[in-house]
Amino acid sequence: MTLTYVITGASRGLGLEFVKQVSLQGHLVFALARHPESSEPLQALLKDRENVIAVKMDTTCENSIKEAVEKVSQRCAGAIDILINNAGINGPKTFNVENTPKKEYVRIFETNVGGVSDVTQAFLPLLRQGTTKKILNISSILGSITNIATANPGGHGSAYDVSKTALNMLTKLFANHLAKENFIVYSTHPGWVKTDMGGESAPVEQADSIAGMLKVLDTIQPQDNGSFYNYTGSKLEW
Ligand SMILES: NC(=O)c1ccc[n+]([C@@H]2O[C@H](COP(=O)([O-])OP(=O)(O)OC[C@H]3O[C@@H](n4cnc5c(N)ncnc54)[C@H](OP(=O)(O)O)[C@@H]3O)[C@@H](O)[C@H]2O)c1
Repeated sequence: MTLTYVITGASRGLGLEFVKQVSLQGHLVFALARHPESSEPLQALLKDRENVIAVKMDTTCENSIKEAVEKVSQRCAGAIDILINNAGINGPKTFNVENTPKKEYVRIFETNVGGVSDVTQAFLPLLRQGTTKKILNISSILGSITNIATANPGGHGSAYDVSKTALNMLTKLFANHLAKENFIVYSTHPGWVKTDMGGESAPVEQADSIAGMLKVLDTIQPQDNGSFYNYTGSKLEW
């Protein structure tokens, strides 16, 4: 079955790799990016694959989200099946709980939580018309209260960790809210991956992270609505 995906943060990193792998499976993919025109790899993909459509969207800008939903609506035959909230930011690792200014929490929260909330709300009408009704939020093990003592014992970049914990709560709230409509809303940790954010020393390749996350996305069941997964397919504690 050919499905319709909407993927945010598709200019580079994990978002771009999602677009590559999903489009290779033959699905229709809306690749949402702040500046699609200046992403060379996305432009190359557009030339290569007719089933990829680039749409401009800044997840922190309400007007930009509204315009993006309109553009997707014109090309998606009234429905989308899967929303992947991938766009995210982090901050300097020199900040920890002792020296992070409030404005850093607010800055990161705007993208990692507020952006995901606004984008999800805006695409819900199209998702409600879709067949699979799945929403995947790209979180992090750094948002896991259970695992944080081992995942980031020094608490470096604490605003990011706090934002991903809040994103996990947002996931759970959407999951509860949409359960009666047979949605599956869940969070995934993509691994520590070689991207601009993850850095060169990260142990996981983008291709492996995305392949693992897509395997979960393809096979996830309604009883797993509101879960937190690792990219390897195992479940994580919140
Ligand atoms: N890499 C890792 O090890 C790792 C681990 C755990 C979780 N994650 C999560 O995985 C997701 C992807 O991370 P990544 O490693 O691919 O990061 P990345 O290489 O830094 O890419 C981030 C992507 O998000 C986009 N983005 C940021 N703010 C945006 C906004 N306001 N509107 C639209 N797009 C925006 C960026 O677009 P521009 O090109 O326009 O900046 C870029 O496409 C993030 O949510 C991150 O927190 C990553």
